[in-house]
Amino acid sequence: MIPQLTSEQLLEAAHHYGTPLYVYHAERITHQFESLRQAFAYAPVRFFYAAKALTNLHILQHVHRIGADVDCSSINEVKLAITAGFMPQQILYTSNSVSFDEIAEARALGVHINIDSLSNLIKFAEANHGSYPVGIRIRPDILAGGNLQISTGHDRSKFGIALSDLPEVYRLIREKELHVRVLHIHTGSEIKEVDVFLKGLDLLFDLAPNFPHLEAIDLGGGFKVPYKEGETGTDIQALASAVQEHFYAFENRTGIDLEFWFEPGKYLVAESGYLLTAVNVLKRSGNIEFAGVDSGLNQLIRPMFYNAYHSIENLSHPNGAVQTYTVVGNVCETDTFAEDRPLNQVREGDLLCIRNAGAYGFEMASSYNARCRPAEVLFRAGEMHLIRRRETLDDLLHLQIPLGD
Ligand code: LLP
Repeated sequence: MIPQLTSEQLLEAAHHYGTPLYVYHAERITHQFESLRQAFAYAPVRFFYAAKALTNLHILQHVHRIGADVDCSSINEVKLAITAGFMPQQILYTSNSVSFDEIAEARALGVHINIDSLSNLIKFAEANHGSYPVGIRIRPDILAGGNLQISTGHDRSKFGIALSDLPEVYRLIREKELHVRVLHIHTGSEIKEVDVFLKGLDLLFDLAPNFPHLEAIDLGGGFKVPYKEGETGTDIQALASAVQEHFYAFENRTGIDLEFWFEPGKYLVAESGYLLTAVNVLKRSGNIEFAGVDSGLNQLIRPMFYNAYHSIENLSHPNGAVQTYTVVGNVCETDTFAEDRPLNQVREGDLLCIRNAGAYGFEMASSYNARCRPAEVLFRAGEMHLIRRRETLDDLLHLQIPLGD
């Protein structure tokens, strides 16, 4: 059975810690991880959790405990992962547009590094880092993902080293003893079609014989999870079988043995997270009934930024007659969580639950309008734990420096 938090647990958390509140469910993360592990049991495979989806230390620790590795997009994420208990060899650092100093720091920490630009790769090779194995992120010119904003592998994307720059990479391998251990692509987020992964995989297989030190193919993250009722996500079983077929064919053809790496973010944590928010105000305008809540784009930006759909339910009035509401936030901007959404009758004070808020929810939150970021709670083995206290006005003032005049 798929682990879910009950309405009672969510109401209890909101009652205890107030709203707006992020609530996560550890067993759901474990469930997601196990489904990946089982599907790919045939292969030498490693799953690096894309920490950028949710970096709370307790989430990182949980992910570590259940046996995943971790993918970091900044040196601070690397440091958080180390703090959470990951060993350097369990940490992958994949970033873009970073200063070379950050890459040098990652090297000093001994973590795996994927380099995303020719410029930094040249610096890496020239700084006599030839012996330190490295991964390179390739821009495969594949258009994929839920929408253009989260599509990263197409031919106008800022990410990765262009295929046309590969001759220069081969030169570095020949002349500077650059040791390329991993070929990496990440074509986007919310990729449902198995074929997109296979297209990327075949491209990397074609390139593989040019890399004498190659040990792993890293296909990035991007597995889709269902956000809408009735929607389906990436068929992980189908993906695993198709990858297996391509993997064996490649092995038989070339005699090259490779590991598979993946970097799932959303797949592991999206469905484990809930944003609880209370209804402050009901307002009728023409035929629109607005439900104004105590959250906003500063706390969950996905609906406004990507036009993303998140399912919403009224926990306080589950049997109320269904009516249509436009759910909006309290930020001084148009911040619509859902337009014309059927909900059980909403009353001021009711508690709404926004689902699938675990990935890129709290993590992309800000203190815009000087509103404090929510607290975070983790349910584990049925117990509720506060894992981040609510931000306060003092926190907001803390970094500001009085001029003394
Ligand atoms: N690996 C790399 C190199 C990435 O850039 C990303 C996500 C991932 C892995 C994890 O992708 P996932 O499995 O979570 O789809 N904020 C957007 C998603 C941006 C993803 C950025 N990179 C959203 O909320 O939809």
